[in-house]
Order: sequence, then structure tokens, then C-alpha cells
Amino acid sequence: MRRLPKIGFGTWMLSGADCTAAVLAAIDAGYRFIDTAQYYDNEAQVGEAIAATTVPREEFVIATKVWYDVLAHDDVLKSTATSLKKLGLKYVDILYVHWPTKPHYNPKETLKAFSELVDRGKVRHIGVSNFTPALVDEAIGVCEALGKGIIADQVEHHPLLQQRRLREHLQERGLALVAYSPLGRRRALEVPEIVQVAKKHGASSGQVSLAWIMDHGAIPIPKAKDPAHIKENFDALDLKLDRDDIALIDSIRVERRLINPPSIAPDW
Ligand SMILES: NC(=O)c1ccc[n+]([C@@H]2O[C@H](COP(=O)([O-])OP(=O)(O)OC[C@H]3O[C@@H](n4cnc5c(N)ncnc54)[C@H](OP(=O)(O)O)[C@@H]3O)[C@@H](O)[C@H]2O)c1
Repeated sequence: MRRLPKIGFGTWMLSGADCTAAVLAAIDAGYRFIDTAQYYDNEAQVGEAIAATTVPREEFVIATKVWYDVLAHDDVLKSTATSLKKLGLKYVDILYVHWPTKPHYNPKETLKAFSELVDRGKVRHIGVSNFTPALVDEAIGVCEALGKGIIADQVEHHPLLQQRRLREHLQERGLALVAYSPLGRRRALEVPEIVQVAKKHGASSGQVSLAWIMDHGAIPIPKAKDPAHIKENFDALDLKLDRDDIALIDSIRVERRLINPPSIAPDW
């Protein structure tokens, strides 16, 4: 695969015609990396938008995720076939393990199924999501034995959850960090340090949060339904923060994890 795009488009909580319209607006704005999941129940609408554009399929990076309760070998194969059908695609670029929840997630069994999907051309790259450093290393070991790599760990990451240790861990191992909830589900927008940097650059708080994430080499996937938000977020690619801005945001010590579903999430 060519390198992953610097920014992607999130689709959680988008449904029906709103979802198709938002994905179309995102494609128009320039996004080529689209993030969905079995759990979001919108793969068909994402697929509709992809089918409706004139952008060639190979320019897109389309990612979906296998839900935590269908991670047994045969369930992975079956549920991914359903995802592809809903998306109207022959393959996805990234297939993630959505959550490493035991006993459904059994690294050898689950990742063997993922590996088979790569061999059959249904999946270009294996991804993991919500994996801690230890879980990442375990999955890398299993994939290596199968002759495969892991392209990314998709985790919550924004100025209020800086993920310093995990970020370094992934960088050392050559995995991308795909940053979900990169606006902290709006909570990052009012953080004084973010507001201060936004004022200095005549940018929005959202753009500052996204530019800071990108400056650290991670890939934010903001979700937006509002067409103005969709475009504004993509334009964060043009915002260049200086060393002082980065240092100021790095210095935020408040930690707020927003996504932590009981009995599904790992022991962070
Ligand atoms: N792997 C996982 O377990 C996992 C978990 C959570 C999320 N994700 C992925 O990450 C994506 C993004 O995360 P998220 O949806 O949780 O949160 P987010 O992207 O941090 O925030 C989305 C919220 O911010 C608003 N917003 C977007 N752009 C804005 C702007 N420029 N100014 C002001 N408000 C703005 C949106 O409003 P409007 O919609 O009204 O525009 C929406 O309410 C998800 O959609 C999903 O694809 C993955």
C-alpha cells in the first residue's frame, strides 16, 4: 500500500441518508481514508457513497472493523463477507480487530482468519484497535508466524489523552497510530491551551487538535455530520504549528479517556 493518508474520516453515529451525504461531502472535501465498522451499522451507506463518486476505488483506503463477539475463526470469515457485501466492495484496505475482548479474541485463531482473508485478497492489511502495548506485541508475534504484518493500532487519542507511551511503542515497531475521537468528542475544543494556539493562528480549535495529532505522526479520523466541520477538519492539513505550540499542548497533563466500555475494553 502507498502510505496511509495523513487524515481520515470517521463515521460512528452517522446513519441512513445522513451517513451517505456526509461521506460524499468528505470525499468532495478531499478525504480518501474512510473509517467504518460492523458495529456502526452504516457499512451499506458508506458503500453507497463510494459507489456514487467518480473517484477510483484504488485511491481510497477503506477500513472496517470486526466486532468483539465475532472474533472466532469462522465468525471472522462470515462477518467480513457480510461487511464486504454491505460495502459493495471486493476488498477492504484495512480490517481491524475492533476490541481485543477475551474469550472471543483468541490471537492465534482470530489472526489466522485475518491472515486467510489477506491471502484470499479480501483484505489488504490487518489492523488492531484498542490494543495496549503488550497486546500489540502479542499480535505482532502471531502475525509474524503467519508471514503477515500489522499496519496500525486505532486508539483514542487527543490532547486530553496523549498516549505518549503507546505512541512511542508503535513508532518503534513501524505501526501507524490511527487516532479516534481526535476532537475528544468536542471536549478538546475548549481546552485553554488549544484555544490559545487557535487564536494565535486564526484557526479553529478543532484544526489545532488535528494538526497537533498529525505533527506527532498519528492519523486523526474526525467524524462530522456538518459539511462546514467536514471541510474545516480536512483543512487542518494546511495548519502548521510551531515548536512553542506543540510544547504547550504537550504540556497538558489532564487525562480523560472517553471510550471505555465495561467488560469489552482491555486493562489499559
Ligand atoms: N475503534 C474504536 O473503538 C473507535 C471508538 C470511537 C471512535 N472511533 C472512530 O473515530 C471516529 C471519530 O471519533 P468520534 O466520532 O468519537 O469523535 P470526534 O471525531 O472526536 O468528534 C465528533 C464530534 O465533534 C463534532 N465536530 C466535528 N468537527 C468539528 C469542528 N470542526 N468543530 C466543532 N465540532 C466538530 C461533531 O459534530 P457534527 O457531527 O455535528 O459535525 C461530533 O459531535 C469515529 O467516528 C469512528 O470512526 C473508533
